[in-house]
Amino acid sequence: MLRPIAVTVLAFGLGMSASSVLAAEVDPSTGFIIAPGWESVRNNCVACHSATLVTQNSGSREHWLSLIRWMQDGQGLWQFDPLTENTILNYLTENYGPKQDARRPALRIDELPVNPYRAKQS
Ligand code: HEC
Repeated sequence: MLRPIAVTVLAFGLGMSASSVLAAEVDPSTGFIIAPGWESVRNNCVACHSATLVTQNSGSREHWLSLIRWMQDGQGLWQFDPLTENTILNYLTENYGPKQDARRPALRIDELPVNPYRAKQS
């Protein structure tokens, strides 16, 4: 079997994205992508709900941080030491970051409605 580094190099050579490579390696019991920090997430994020709730979600670091604060403020989630929190946020942002293809591309300027606040061009 190829070691992960070899698979990664091969996959990049074939033009595949990093996420499609990493997505192949998941923890069978939780479904978490195996990448740096995943154990911290397994240890802290599946006590109250399934891992699927985590892996179905995605977003920026700010999104994940706001979810953690929301769970800490009212859902009984414990406080993390700064190192653990950073590890968890890095892992989530890296592996469950904003979806590239879930947002439509920005409209061209000629597709936008008239903006009454934009200064009139002559
Ligand atoms: C102490 C309990 C507890 C722990 C531990 C916990 N959560 Fe939650 N979490 C909740 C509750 C309660 C909800 C709301 C569940 C529901 O809506 O069914 C929730 C919901 C969520 C959601 C869905 C939010 C939404 O918008 O619907 C995500 C994503 C999530 N948690 C991620 C995490 C992550 C990441 C961790 C680890 C850092 C974690 N949870 C650890 C209690 C917890």
